[in-house]
Amino acid sequence: MKNQETKIVMIGVFKGGVGKTTTSINLAHALALRKKEVLIVDLDPQGNATRSLGYEVTELTPTVYTVMKGISRAEESIGQVRENLFLLPSNRTTALLETELASEVGREKALSRAMKEIKNFEYVILDCGPGSTIVNVNALVYATDVLMPIEIGVDSVEGVEDFIKAKEAICQKLEIETRLMGAVMTKVDRRLTLTETILAHCRTSFEGKFFAQIRTDTNLGHARGHRQTIFEYDRKSRAAEDYATMANDVIKWFKRK
Ligand SMILES: Nc1ncnc2c1ncn2[C@@H]1O[C@H](COP(=O)(O)OP(=O)(O)O)[C@@H](O)[C@H]1O
Ligand SMILES: [Mg+2]
Repeated sequence: MKNQETKIVMIGVFKGGVGKTTTSINLAHALALRKKEVLIVDLDPQGNATRSLGYEVTELTPTVYTVMKGISRAEESIGQVRENLFLLPSNRTTALLETELASEVGREKALSRAMKEIKNFEYVILDCGPGSTIVNVNALVYATDVLMPIEIGVDSVEGVEDFIKAKEAICQKLEIETRLMGAVMTKVDRRLTLTETILAHCRTSFEGKFFAQIRTDTNLGHARGHRQTIFEYDRKSRAAEDYATMANDVIKWFKRK
């Protein structure tokens, strides 16, 4: 049973480098700054969200791996990273789950099972790694909603369709009803001729769904290098403005439901 109070948003597509982690941490911090209690679950073996938030993981630190394996309890494995912002970290051990869960019965539900007791957050943001991995299927099962970051580029549209098809196939097979929330267009650069065409196309295909845009801003990369969110690094930047707007729109979106 999904807890209807908590909005569990999977930031996912199976492609890498499209802005999943950047969106996860900055959207999450924007919501936290709006006084929402937010948990980020880092599900990527690369642990980019964990590192970008300056969270130290040693061999003894509980992670999403130990939680999904039942070695540590979720509530003891979550750390506070900012005011109102919490993290269940990841490191390369998360990759071991692919083989270790492979032969287990109910392997797609390991994350949902482990997170069942976690109820005091308004938003849970799932930062996913690339690929149609068992861990990402677990994210889809646990999530209430999926938000797709789309980087404007030649193959962006195909990647989107493939992901939506895969999502629907998985939901049907596992009999779950994770909603397709919508899309966030990342690295939007209006000076490029393709931009308007792709934006228009995506806006149409996501009609009636959530739709946000984040402009290209190198401050996002610099902020991560400093282990800061965009609101700490430069709150007057374009990206800070765009992620703040997106957070307001996310809050409004869930109020409508
Ligand atoms: N709006 C943006 N403007 C400029 N660079 C961006 C933007 N969003 C993401 N990036 C950069 O793109 C790269 C990939 O982003 P990332 O969030 O790590 O993608 P993913 O998690 O999907 O692999 C990073 O170097 C990041 O700083
Ligand atoms: Mg990432």
